[in-house]
Amino acid sequence: MSAAHDDIHAHAPEQPEVSHPLLWSVCILSIAIFLAWLFFHFLFKGMHVARHHGKIEIHQAGEAEPDHKALMANHSAEVVDQGAAVYNAKCASCHGTQGNSNPSNLKPAPRNFHADAWKNPNGGGPYALYLVLKKGLGTMPAFPGLSAEDKYAVNHFITETWVKKVNNAHYVELDRDDVQKTIPLPGAAGEHGGDHHPAQVEVKAPVLPLMAGIAKKEQQQINIVQVWAEAASAAAPAERKQVAYRFADLAKSEPGLALAIKQTVMANDQPRFTALLAGSDGSGAVRSYFSLLSADELSGLYSLLKGGQ
Ligand code: HEC
Repeated sequence: MSAAHDDIHAHAPEQPEVSHPLLWSVCILSIAIFLAWLFFHFLFKGMHVARHHGKIEIHQAGEAEPDHKALMANHSAEVVDQGAAVYNAKCASCHGTQGNSNPSNLKPAPRNFHADAWKNPNGGGPYALYLVLKKGLGTMPAFPGLSAEDKYAVNHFITETWVKKVNNAHYVELDRDDVQKTIPLPGAAGEHGGDHHPAQVEVKAPVLPLMAGIAKKEQQQINIVQVWAEAASAAAPAERKQVAYRFADLAKSEPGLALAIKQTVMANDQPRFTALLAGSDGSGAVRSYFSLLSADELSGLYSLLKGGQ
């Protein structure tokens, strides 16, 4: 019986071979693609979450915090003079040579230092105003190229020359207590802020190096387009300032769009530039300002950006 059984097995007809190499390849490839998609999907998701929760921080490499308390306290004549020079070079075009006019016709108007109150949430103390220059405020840009010394000097010039004398109700010698508590110690690693030059961006990330690498690249691209837009608005003649400013603003709020627009400028594609910035494709809300501009104003902006490309 056992022998007969073995015999049956030995002579059982072989299963016909059912192998479809093409089918297998397609299956394996789809699985691989799906896994890769999953990987990147969650990688980007994780990166996004990590950035928003401050797990990935972008620091300005090598730029340690200055001695804020010393710079704040020093409004000697030399410092005020140094501030006057900075003011005339960088601020007078918007705030007026006397700090109380609006030569570029900006809307909303720049602060009138002879009369207005402060609007930034930290008040009018020296560190609060330093942060205004570091991070920008509303349509006023940040000044990443200005050293901490120059930032304090120009603010001392404004507050000592005008605010203290003709707008004394708004002269603030010392920052509020809650603001003072946030002043970094001298030498501390640079704070996360708006002013990173692309070449100086360094990612300090307690997360996967790959994530950090991608985040860094993304941040660099954003920085490049923002620096580009800000340089163009700094170089803009008075009649183009407002438009250039709004574009610099757009580069902050919608860096992806600004990057796409930069590419059209680099490719000399003005029709596409106009379509992206002022056309109907894409989200209208941010760009409604641009869609109301005349063709002349749009091509003026294009030439301006082209110049600073
Ligand atoms: C291109 C225009 C422009 C330039 C250049 C400019 N500002 Fe302004 N500045 C503005 C505008 C506009 C506001 C008002 C912003 C707002 O209310 O949202 C403002 C506001 C301010 C404020 C008020 C902050 C507050 O809390 O109310 C200070 C201080 C200030 N600027 C300082 C400077 C200094 C210093 C410089 C030069 C280093 C400078 N600005 C250059 C446009 C400009």
